[in-house]
Amino acid sequence: MSVSQLHQRLSETGQCHLLQFWNDLQEEEQLALCQELQAMEFKELNLFFQRAMEDFNRSASQEKVDARMEAVPREVLGSITRDRDRLQEWQKEGFLQISQNKVAVVLLAGGQGTRLGVTYPKGMYDVGLPSHKTLFQIQAERILKLEHLAEAQHGKKCTIPWYIMTSGRTMESTEQFFLKHKYFDLKKENVFFFQQGMLPAMSFEGKILLEEKGKVAMAPDGNGGLYRALGSQQVLKDMERRGIEYIHVYCVDNILVRVADPVFMGFCVQKGVDCGVKVVEKTNPTEPVGVVCKVDGVYQVVEYSEITLATAQKRTADGRLMFNAGNIANHFFTLAFLRDIVNIYEPRLQHHVAQKKIPFVDTQGRLIKPDKPNGIKMEKFVFDIFQFAKKFAVYETLREEEFSPLKNADSQNGKDNPTTARHALMSLHHCWVLNAGGHFIDENGTRIPAIPLSTNGESDAVTADVNDNLKDANDLPVQCEISPLVSYAGEGLEMYVQEKEFHTPLIIDENGVQELMKNGL
Ligand code: UTP
Repeated sequence: MSVSQLHQRLSETGQCHLLQFWNDLQEEEQLALCQELQAMEFKELNLFFQRAMEDFNRSASQEKVDARMEAVPREVLGSITRDRDRLQEWQKEGFLQISQNKVAVVLLAGGQGTRLGVTYPKGMYDVGLPSHKTLFQIQAERILKLEHLAEAQHGKKCTIPWYIMTSGRTMESTEQFFLKHKYFDLKKENVFFFQQGMLPAMSFEGKILLEEKGKVAMAPDGNGGLYRALGSQQVLKDMERRGIEYIHVYCVDNILVRVADPVFMGFCVQKGVDCGVKVVEKTNPTEPVGVVCKVDGVYQVVEYSEITLATAQKRTADGRLMFNAGNIANHFFTLAFLRDIVNIYEPRLQHHVAQKKIPFVDTQGRLIKPDKPNGIKMEKFVFDIFQFAKKFAVYETLREEEFSPLKNADSQNGKDNPTTARHALMSLHHCWVLNAGGHFIDENGTRIPAIPLSTNGESDAVTADVNDNLKDANDLPVQCEISPLVSYAGEGLEMYVQEKEFHTPLIIDENGVQELMKNGL
C-alpha cells in the first residue's frame, strides 16, 4: 500500500493526523510507521471506541446496581473453612485429573506493571525473599511439585502444560528469561508463550495518540484479551492436541497463588461446572475489591464503585458481609467452555474504558507527559465471560494462604507491594513449620511465641491473631521460606521440622534445611 493510499484510509476514518510528522521521519521510521498503520483496522477501532465510550457514559449516568444484585447462593459455594470435610475428596479428584494429563494452566502476564514501575515483566521481579526467587520461578516450581505429587499418588508421570500470555511489550524478555533459566527445569515443550493483542490509546475524542512522531501509543487489550488470543495464537488447538479438559487461569502478580490447585480444580470438576472462580472473603465494606455475585440473575463481578455504601455494608445473620466474594482473578474453565467463548461469545464482549495519563506527542511534535488523564485505553477483563457460563461455582479460600498481589512499588504506599508480598509468603511458611511441629528460637535460644495458622482454615480468628502479631512486631515476620519443590501447600514438612528448633532466617529447599545465620550465609 502506498503512502497516499494509507493517507486516504486514515482520512476516511478520521485518523490522518497520524501522518502529520511524516516528513520529519527517517526512511526506516517511515517504513516502521507504515507497517504499524497498515496492520490496523481503523473502522473496527473506531467502532470499539464508540461502543466502549457509550457503555462508559451509560454506566456513569446509570443508577447503582444494588437493587439488581444477589449474593452467591450457598449451593454453588465451596469453602475452605465451611466445607472442611469435603476438601480431601476434592483434592483427590484434582490429583486424578492432573495425573491423567487433563489439567493445564494459563498465566496472565501481559500487563504493563505501571504501578510497580519496572521496565521488565512483573514475573521477573524478585521481592527479596531469602532465596531471591522471582515470581516466575516460584510458579514454575509449584507446577513441578504438583506433577511430582500427582505422580507419587498415581504411579505415572504426568504433565501440566503452562501457557503464558505476554504482550508485544513483554514477549521477548519473558522468553529470554525462561531460556536463561532453563525453563526452571520444566520441559521446554510444555511451556507455551503467546501474545495477547494490543490496541492504540485514544484521546477522549477518539483520536489515536502517538507516543513518538513515528510511533503509535499502543497498550495491551486487557487480561480479557486472553480469549481472542486463545484462538488466534493456536492455544486452544494445542490444548486439544494434548487432551486437556480443565484449565486454571491466574495472574502473575499473586505470590501465594496455588497454581492448578488440586482442591479447587477437583471442587469444580465434581460440581460439573464449566466456569469456576476462587474468591477470598471481603471483610471490610470499603475495601475496593470487585465482588462475585449475580446481577439480574447472571454471574458477574461488581466493582466497589458500582454499589452504594449501604449495600457494601449489608451483613447476613452470621455477621459476614452479604457481598463478600472478593474476586482474585483465579479461575477454572473447561476446554469446551473456552471453545464456545472463543468461537461464539468473545466478539460480543465490549471493551471497558480505562482513563489514563498517556504520554503523547502534541501537534508541535513535543512529547507531553500529562499529570491528569488525557485519554483512554480499551480493555476487556478476564471475568467478562462469567455471564456465559451454563453452570458456575465459587470456591472461597483464605486470603493469608492464597492471595497477596504485587501491584505497587515499596515507595508508593503500604499496600500490595514487594514488602507485603514477601511478608505474606514468609508468614505463611512460618505457619507451615509450626503446623508441622517445628519451632523457632531467638538468638538466646528462647522460643519465639506464635500461633499456628491452620492450613485448613481452622478459624478466621486464629489467622487474624497471627497477622496482628506480625503487625505488632513492626510487621517483621519470622524469616522462613520453603521451596515449592519441597512443599506445595504446607504438606510433607514433618520429616524436616517435627520437634526441631530453628534460628531464622530458615530456608527449606531441595538441599534440605538451611539456617542461614548458623551457616554464616
Ligand atoms: P493489573 O490490572 O493489575 O495490571 O493486571 P498490571 O499490568 O499488572 O499493572 P498496572 O495496572 O499496569 O500497574 C492483573 C493481571 O492481569 C494481567 C497482568 O499481567 C496481571 O497478571 N494483564 C493485565 C494481562 O495479562 N494483560 C493486560 O492487558 C492487563
